[in-house]
Amino acid sequence: MTFSLVLAVLAPLLTVSVEAARQPYDVHKIIDAFRNPHDDLKLLCAHRGLRWNGTSENSRDSYFRASEAGIECIETDIHLSLDGQLPMIHDGGLGRTTDIGEMTGQAAYNPFTAEGYNPLVADFNFTGLGGIEQLHLRDEQGRVRDEYVPSLPQMISSIFESGMNVVLELDFKDETAIEPVYWALKHLTNRAGVPANEWCIYKLQSVWYQTPEIFEALPWVQDAFQNGVQLAFIPVYDAGYIDDFDQLASAKLFSETNYTISFEVELRNTGGPIQDILDFTRDMNSVIRTAGTFHAPGDFTYPNTNIITFFDTGNYSLPADLQVNNSVYTFSENSVPTLIDAQVGNKSTDGHDYRSDFNWIIEQGYEWVITDTADDWHSRLEQQGLRNISHLIADGRAVVDEALAKTWYKRHARNFWGRSM
Ligand SMILES: *[C@@H]1O[C@H](CO)[C@@H](O)[C@H](O)[C@H]1NC(C)=O
Ligand SMILES: *[C@@H]1O[C@H](CO)[C@@H](O)[C@H](O)[C@H]1NC(C)=O
Ligand SMILES: *[C@@H]1O[C@H](CO)[C@@H](O)[C@H](O)[C@H]1NC(C)=O
Ligand SMILES: *[C@@H]1O[C@H](CO)[C@@H](O)[C@H](O)[C@H]1NC(C)=O
Ligand SMILES: *[C@@H]1O[C@H](CO)[C@@H](O)[C@H](O)[C@H]1NC(C)=O
Ligand SMILES: *[C@@H]1O[C@H](CO)[C@@H](O)[C@H](O)[C@H]1NC(C)=O
Ligand SMILES: *[C@@H]1O[C@H](CO)[C@@H](O)[C@H](O)[C@H]1NC(C)=O
Repeated sequence: MTFSLVLAVLAPLLTVSVEAARQPYDVHKIIDAFRNPHDDLKLLCAHRGLRWNGTSENSRDSYFRASEAGIECIETDIHLSLDGQLPMIHDGGLGRTTDIGEMTGQAAYNPFTAEGYNPLVADFNFTGLGGIEQLHLRDEQGRVRDEYVPSLPQMISSIFESGMNVVLELDFKDETAIEPVYWALKHLTNRAGVPANEWCIYKLQSVWYQTPEIFEALPWVQDAFQNGVQLAFIPVYDAGYIDDFDQLASAKLFSETNYTISFEVELRNTGGPIQDILDFTRDMNSVIRTAGTFHAPGDFTYPNTNIITFFDTGNYSLPADLQVNNSVYTFSENSVPTLIDAQVGNKSTDGHDYRSDFNWIIEQGYEWVITDTADDWHSRLEQQGLRNISHLIADGRAVVDEALAKTWYKRHARNFWGRSM
């Protein structure tokens, strides 16, 4: 029996719970809020879904959790497999987030020591014998979960089936995956019938397509224009690209296009490199009036509070306090945990990377944030009067009591969805 068939049988049961729990967002209103700022709303993108404590990154479970928590956007990663499919995996290798080691009788990969089996996603088929779709996901703490690796089209189907009202920010680790995504999404929609290519935001590194001329010449972009698909594009400007090209000039050109909805501006400190791009979005004469950034709270364990890991940390131990000197420890493969400040180099003019600091991000005036702790951000922003989600609610619908959402997820979601596909 296919999943769709199973779902068709269970649909009445699920629909009741799902609709009782989720915010009835209109995805076009979410995209509109990326374009046009509201004084009383910051937008949140759950980084790889809402994960931790048994929920793997980029998993269906992490999507359900984000949606149940009222988060309107999920930032997510896509790679291209050998057979041209689009597995939702962050790393170039399969080791950290799947059980490829256990499945092939090799040593499981350990991201802390970089030992074990970690072959490239690009060298594996997604479908068929030994394909990525047969691998289980691991959570951040290293435990193998009862859930398989999804492809992007499968995730979109899952969003359709469950009636989730979210937009995605697609983060491409691999430029070659961009065009296949457009074609794969072309005939998919959410439950409300909105084409996936209108609520899956193409968030692309600005170095790839530095001018609208280059971007608009791409066959898939031409196809969108010809078919009236209203693309949502966000170029990523980064302090790390200062030596590569004139990012402000690029931002000014893109600001005039009908498909650029916002900028991601990866500033590391106030007044540091690319501050001028953030200032440009504050200029009343600019067409682009919003910017977003990444909240950088470290990696591999729950940010700031929970240092439990089931991976062997090898020769290193995790510091008892992950936050030090207004910076935070992060872990790179096979090296001693270092503060993000220690990696900032000349991307900052005062030696600090402030992106682990909630207050700093708010003070810079960013309108949207990609964060690993979206539920925590939601509560903190609410306390500051910055989470008026009614701007995002579909016409004729009302905000749902959040308490319902929490109970629904705990009661039904995890086991059912983890096993079903
Ligand atoms: C994870 O679970 C532990 C133990 O139940 C709990 O203290 C902690 O708050 C949880 N963390 C998250 C991020 O849910
Ligand atoms: C751990 O330390 C030992 C002794 O210094 C060294 O031989 C080994 O390569 C280190 N292992 C890792 C994973 O760094
Ligand atoms: C990928 O699939 C193709 C076509 O089915 C097959 O010929 C090839 O051997 C597969 N490659 C791997 C690495 O599984
Ligand atoms: C957006 O601009 C492009 C290029 O100028 C144009 O071809 C396209 O029709 C416009 N799309 C919409 C939806 O207005
Ligand atoms: C934090 O700052 C203090 C004062 O500058 C310094 O002595 C200490 O080494 C710093 N701690 C870390 C972990 O960098
Ligand atoms: C910034 O640092 C990089 C190396 O990390 C170097 O290549 C580059 O020239 C530096 N840029 C400036 C403007 O100092
Ligand atoms: C939230 O926004 C809606 C729509 O603009 C407005 O009617 C409402 O008063 C706002 N709520 C609060 C608490 O400010």
